[in-house]
Amino acid sequence: MALLLLQAVAGLAGAALWLAAGFSAAGPAPDDATPRSRRSARTPRERMPVLAFVAGGTLALAGAVALALVLAGRGWWFAGEKIVIALPLQLIGLAAGVLGLVWWLTGRRPVAGRTLVLGGGYAMAAAALATWLIGYPPQPVAALLLFAAVALGTGLTWALLAHRGRRAVAGFAGFLALLLVAGIGWSWLSDTAAPTLEAGTGHGHGAAAVVDANDGAVASRSVETLRTPADAPGEVRRFELTAAHHTVELAGGDSVEAWGFGGDSLPGPELRVTEGDLVEATLANRDIERGVTLHWHGYDVPNGEDGVAGVTQNAVAPGGTFTSRFVADTAGTYWYHTHQAGSEGVRRGLYGMLVVEPAGGVAEDLDLSVPVHTLGGAVFLGEIDGPQQIDAEPGSTVRLRVANTDRSPLRVLVAGAPFRISAVDGLDVEGGAEVRGEALRLGAGARADLVFTMPEAPVRFETDASEASVISFVPPGDDATSTSEGAPSEIEAAPELDLLAYGDAARPELGPFTAEGVLVLDRMPRFVGGAPIYAYTVNGQVFPHIEPLVVHEGDLMRITVANRGFDVHPMHVHGHHVLVLARDGEAATGAPLWLDTVDVRPGEVWELALRADNPGIWMDHCHDLEHAAQGMMMSLAYTGVTTPFEHGGAHANRPE
Ligand code: C2O
Ligand code: CU
Repeated sequence: MALLLLQAVAGLAGAALWLAAGFSAAGPAPDDATPRSRRSARTPRERMPVLAFVAGGTLALAGAVALALVLAGRGWWFAGEKIVIALPLQLIGLAAGVLGLVWWLTGRRPVAGRTLVLGGGYAMAAAALATWLIGYPPQPVAALLLFAAVALGTGLTWALLAHRGRRAVAGFAGFLALLLVAGIGWSWLSDTAAPTLEAGTGHGHGAAAVVDANDGAVASRSVETLRTPADAPGEVRRFELTAAHHTVELAGGDSVEAWGFGGDSLPGPELRVTEGDLVEATLANRDIERGVTLHWHGYDVPNGEDGVAGVTQNAVAPGGTFTSRFVADTAGTYWYHTHQAGSEGVRRGLYGMLVVEPAGGVAEDLDLSVPVHTLGGAVFLGEIDGPQQIDAEPGSTVRLRVANTDRSPLRVLVAGAPFRISAVDGLDVEGGAEVRGEALRLGAGARADLVFTMPEAPVRFETDASEASVISFVPPGDDATSTSEGAPSEIEAAPELDLLAYGDAARPELGPFTAEGVLVLDRMPRFVGGAPIYAYTVNGQVFPHIEPLVVHEGDLMRITVANRGFDVHPMHVHGHHVLVLARDGEAATGAPLWLDTVDVRPGEVWELALRADNPGIWMDHCHDLEHAAQGMMMSLAYTGVTTPFEHGGAHANRPE
């Protein structure tokens, strides 16, 4: 959001200009040799630059404060620390600076005056840093450290300017260094602290503070007990997936080293079952050294079948196997992928589609799953990178099950025929109107089913990931070359359809909220896995130390997600779909939109409802898996559920 950036720049500029004023406020020190007349006041030539810097700095500072107030009006999440921590620092800094300026100008106490001007600048700089270092929610301990650093820095400056001797200088410098070490050490220590993935391991902020009458009455159970019995009802459908290295040939002739779930094609095999089947998938790892798991993205399986290394199971090492089971009782479009070091594994190809056909069969004549994936610079639509052509009889109906398996957002559209969006994230959307010339945006991990009726002329499925990779549907017998190539691409110029206003409005009866959760997404320097990085944070913290969203079974939780960073965060919650209530304060008006992945753009605030009906410890993370690996992962934890699995450890579990 531009406002956030502007506010940060104004704050920094204010501090920099006041510091510049302090530095340029030198001039001959009034000692006994200085004539009295020179002591009483500064000459215009000495005054001019200092006053100019002060004027500019104060103006910038005022701008920063005003913008902070505007941001606070947009939502406290965007400005909490700017008001609670930065504003006091800025006011103290300004007061000190003005007093110092007067002393310096009048020549009454020039050294003390200059020290105060510089100290004021430090306070303003610390205020600007508060957003970057502390963020939201404001943490009192970190704020105290900042205040202390400003005081010590001012002391050190005074000792230097007033020639207070080595001992004073060393004293202030020593304490300042100590403070710096303490701050970094504290940050490092919090990285080594025990993980907070289970309910009750947190400290009772926010979500954890909502307590219901049953608290404590739930017997503790392990995620390992939350599994599907082998004799669950349903026709058994067995699949075997073998994770292995293989080589993928690109259309351009190059080949890419990939990882896959079987075969030499890029996606793993499409698993197609029918509503009511009992799916039994055995994963074997042939030679993926980092280990592998099988996670059913968007399919709300029992927790023990969720396939998250270090949370619901251990990573499967080379030579190992793991069998997961679930009753496929919800028709729709889903996908599967590894959830062990997924930022690398999924990117390299450990993914595939899961399609659950409705018990009555698929209504369309042609039903195609289209996972969109980028590998080695090539964009794959299904198994093919490059143009592909499919015969379709005019009048026949086509369903495209599109999945974004990459880490950035994807725009898709059908050109040449009106299309309907009949399902999103696996679940049907009722009453959607026909779309013409508008693009649908899919966040990383999201799916949508696009349905159209084949006209007499060719139709193209396009994405903004690649102009070359398109699917042309042509009436049989049509001249292939004239239809599939050369048609101008429509995707770039197409306006974006808003899913929040799509389909038949019907508010589901939810009942009262019994739990509350707030996720503020940001980017800050933090230790992750022992290394200092510019991490992706939720509520100022990084995995595995982010306070979980805590629910009791049966809760209805309202979740607010605010993105105060400059990156898009496709937030994905496992084991549940969330109902979109509002975005940026505007209520959703279309058909009830139940998502498993909510694409939160910079500056956006989403309000969601989650029904706690699937006990377990569930990952809730950014599906830009690079962001997940850099801290943006947490859990949705049911009270009374525990896990024996650990992050790292002997199995080198990496839950992202
Ligand atoms: Cu598609 Cu936690 O993942
Ligand atoms: Cu992200």
